[in-house]
Amino acid sequence: MPHIEIDGRELDVAAGTTILEAARQLGIYIPVFCYHPKLSIAANCRMCLVDVEKQWKPLPACATPCADGMKIQTRSAKAKAAQQGVLEFLLINHPLDCPVCDQGGECPLQDITMGYANPHSFYQEEKRVVADKDIGPLIATEMTRCIQCTRCVRFGQEIGGIMELGVVGRGEKEAISTYVAKAVSSELSGNMIDLCPVGALTSKPFRYKARSWELKHTPSLCPHCSTGCNTDVQSLGKDVLRVLPRANESVNEEWICDKGRFAYAGLAASDRGQTPLLRVNGSLQPASWAEALEVAAAGLEHLIQKHGPQAIAALISPNSSNEELFLFQALFRALGVAHIEHRLRQTDFRADAAMPLYPALNMSLEDLERERTVHLCHAFPREQ
Ligand code: SF4
Ligand code: FES
Repeated sequence: MPHIEIDGRELDVAAGTTILEAARQLGIYIPVFCYHPKLSIAANCRMCLVDVEKQWKPLPACATPCADGMKIQTRSAKAKAAQQGVLEFLLINHPLDCPVCDQGGECPLQDITMGYANPHSFYQEEKRVVADKDIGPLIATEMTRCIQCTRCVRFGQEIGGIMELGVVGRGEKEAISTYVAKAVSSELSGNMIDLCPVGALTSKPFRYKARSWELKHTPSLCPHCSTGCNTDVQSLGKDVLRVLPRANESVNEEWICDKGRFAYAGLAASDRGQTPLLRVNGSLQPASWAEALEVAAAGLEHLIQKHGPQAIAALISPNSSNEELFLFQALFRALGVAHIEHRLRQTDFRADAAMPLYPALNMSLEDLERERTVHLCHAFPREQ
């Protein structure tokens, strides 16, 4: 186990631990842009440069493994000069348009610039501009803000499973782009918005709706499938404006799919049913909830009196929440109805005796990941 020293604090680390990981174990902050614990190490932003004793040049902490006896300084004059130099380069072409950028207030580039940059830049030349692209209805792009950290590219390659964004051009002409002008269509594309450490990729549905510090955070679980991804529902007043993933290593790590992220927009859809409707003389009329419930209860009572509870079946969507399912069955059981069913899409019940009431994995996702072989029958894992 290498024995090292960071900013005068000693530590034994496992072989292969990088300087950045060791610093994090000690609670020492080293600024990063391209590094992300769930992605491969690219070491292309150089923001994490640190001063290592007996090394002529500063070394990138995210990509340098600890060696026995290493003495590292993260805030020496040499480290600070390296960090300031890197930030000056990263900001050469960045438009510094934080007041009109949706990432403002939750932007690593903004925060690290405030903490580590030299307040004066020597750069006097014109900034370059990258033509904006339309990559679909979910992700808004301002590619002039991009610092080419390639987090979005690596996410597509390593996590999303489809490489839709890539790096084109070199030097001043380097840019992130789809190879042939097309939309990003991966079911996980919204995660690139969270990963982008600047305002180059932001959420189109959330664009200009609110500032991040105005939002109220409510921890929740995604209701759109049975995985149970942990989410953070962010709202302003009555309106839900954003849903982001909440990290849970056992379930969704720190990702969510686009359905879980963007389906909240349906809450405010113009064609969403907002008011109960009652059929009066053949046409549907808006009614209050109290009126509608009274009419529904009276109708149910009439049916039960006329036909008896044995003749009634109660069907409920399996997409309902546990609470809804519980209340539904409690209501109908209390009325004496025995036929209660949630398997609305199943047509063949011959194997009922051998089948579980609902399909379950009986294994955590973490355990599933450790299986050596998994057989999938008639499955579409990307979608499901
Ligand atoms: S768009 Fe964002 S995540 Fe992608 S390379 Fe640029 S700065 Fe990094
Ligand atoms: S974070 Fe280390 S080089 Fe980018």
